[in-house]
Amino acid sequence: MRVVWVTDIHLNFLRPKERAAFYSSIEDAQPEVVFITGDIAEAPCLRELLLEMQRAIDVPIYFVLGNHDFYHGSIEVVRRDIQDWCQVESGLHYLTGLQSIELTPKTVLLGHDGWGDGRLGNYEQSPVRLSDQELIRDFQGLNREAVIEKLQMLGDEAAQNLGETLSKSLESYQEVICLTHVPPFKEACWYQGKVGNDDWLPYFSCKAVGDVLLEVSQDRPHATITVLCGHTHHAGTVEMLPNLRVLTGSAEYGDPSISDVLEIS
Ligand SMILES: [Fe+2]
Ligand SMILES: [Fe+2]
Repeated sequence: MRVVWVTDIHLNFLRPKERAAFYSSIEDAQPEVVFITGDIAEAPCLRELLLEMQRAIDVPIYFVLGNHDFYHGSIEVVRRDIQDWCQVESGLHYLTGLQSIELTPKTVLLGHDGWGDGRLGNYEQSPVRLSDQELIRDFQGLNREAVIEKLQMLGDEAAQNLGETLSKSLESYQEVICLTHVPPFKEACWYQGKVGNDDWLPYFSCKAVGDVLLEVSQDRPHATITVLCGHTHHAGTVEMLPNLRVLTGSAEYGDPSISDVLEIS
C-alpha cells in the first residue's frame, strides 16, 4: 500500500490556489491513502478544509489532530464534532477514539492526537508560552499550576487510550503504524537537527505516550511499531528500541510539503 504522509500543513494559512497546488503535489505522488499527523487548520475551518482536501485528492485520509486544530474551540467539543462528522464522511478517518484499522493483512494503523504533557524539560523555569493557552478554551483563565495539571491530564488520556488500542492490536498483528501529533520522546523532538531544549520540551513532547510505547514494545519484541508525528516542524528519525522507531516530519508555515512516501507491505 502506497501512503503519502504529511504533517502540520496548516491549510488555513494558504490561499485557495496554494491549497490546490499542494493537493496536486499529493496526487502526483499517487497515494492509495494519505496520513496527516495534525495541525491541519483551526477549529472554525477544520471541517471545510479537510473536506476540500479529501475531495481534491480523492483517496481516504487517516488523521489525528494537533493543538492548532483546537484554536478558537475546545478540545472535547472539537474531538466529538470531528468524530461524529467522520461517521458520515466516508473518506475521512479520525483515529482518536477509534480502534485500529487494518491497512494490509500484516499491518494496522492506529493513533491519538497526544498532547505536550509538560513532563520533560523544565516546565517550572520555562519562559515559553504557546498560543494554545490563549486560543484553546480549555486553557483560558487558568493559572500556571492549573495549566500543568491540564497538560498532564491530556497526556495521560492519550497514553491510556493508545495503550489499550495498541495492546489489543498486537494480539492479531505484528506491525503497527501509530499516528500522533506530539513527539512521544525527547529524542524525537527534533529542532534544527538537535533535540529541543528544556524550555520547549514540556510543550513539544508527550512523555506519557512515550512510556506506554516503550512498555508495549519491550513486552512484544517480535512486533514492530512505527510512530509518525510532527508538531516541532523539524524532521528526524530515532530508533528508541530495535522494534520502536519514531519519525518526526518537518513543516513550514505557508508552504506545506510531503514528509514521506511509504510503501506498506
Ligand atoms: Fe504545527
Ligand atoms: Fe502543533
